[in-house]
Amino acid sequence: METVTTIAAVRERVCRWHAEGRRVAFVPTMGNLHAGHVSLIETARRHGERFVASIFVNPMQFGPNEDFAHYPRTPAQDARMLAEAGCDLMFMPDVLEIYPNGSQRATRVEVPGLSDILCGEFRPGHFEGVATVVAKLFHIVDPDVAVFGEKDFQQLTIIRRMVADLCMPVTLVGAPTVREPDGLAMSSRNQYLTDEERRKAPLIHRTLHAAADRLRAGERDFADIERAGTQALERAGFRPDYFAVRRADDLGSPGADTRHLVVLTAARLGRARLIDNLRING
Ligand code: PAJ
Repeated sequence: METVTTIAAVRERVCRWHAEGRRVAFVPTMGNLHAGHVSLIETARRHGERFVASIFVNPMQFGPNEDFAHYPRTPAQDARMLAEAGCDLMFMPDVLEIYPNGSQRATRVEVPGLSDILCGEFRPGHFEGVATVVAKLFHIVDPDVAVFGEKDFQQLTIIRRMVADLCMPVTLVGAPTVREPDGLAMSSRNQYLTDEERRKAPLIHRTLHAAADRLRAGERDFADIERAGTQALERAGFRPDYFAVRRADDLGSPGADTRHLVVLTAARLGRARLIDNLRING
């Protein structure tokens, strides 16, 4: 695997692969890789012939009181894991390479309607930062396929809409959430949990399951299901931002006859803000 830090170097490699007729698959990340990220490379291998991963902690998607400065950075370990997973090119730019005029003043991509609900309500500007950096990375890497985790379900929905709205020539692939044996979705932010919080954390997944079971059984009192989820988390000491049943297609409010549903939650536990979701296909 080769590691490059400049836009020009990425373009040179990918142009060569495209000239050889190779399909290029791309996995954007913020590094501090775990088995969830590695699974995206494995998914990418089913969809392409050359593999690019980016590692960039994107300042534009962090709020002023969020963990940008402290976000775990483990580049040597990340490079080892990507090489082992069969990645061909690791793109690890610095902030100036991506935002030469500073991230505050850079042109932005906004996805109205989707980026101000759920997590967007509690993290203003977050999804604008995500959409902007993903659009830039797509222009830099020019992939045929890009893989995103369903763990960040709202993020995936927003990127799908952006790609459709801006006619970007890339096929998006969603990959299933990789979990710890006790059900906790893998996340770089799990390491902010104390031992006691870590023992509590799988309740998020169990609470989502309880809601999904009620929906699968045909219950359609969404407000009651949301209330029960919120209260179960609060009783255990979480501070939930939301616990919501939505349409899986566009995150809108479901009706009694909506077939594809998703239950999503974000909850704070100690220093960590954990998110997870489960889909229910009727
Ligand atoms: P990051 O949190 O590093 O995640 C990179 C990719 O890995 C995302 O597509 C995310 O959904 C996926 N992922 C994370 N944990 C996962 C898990 N347990 N199972 C499956 N997939 C998982 O998401 C971002 O970075 C950034 O917002 C980014 C898209 C790179 C833009 O900066």
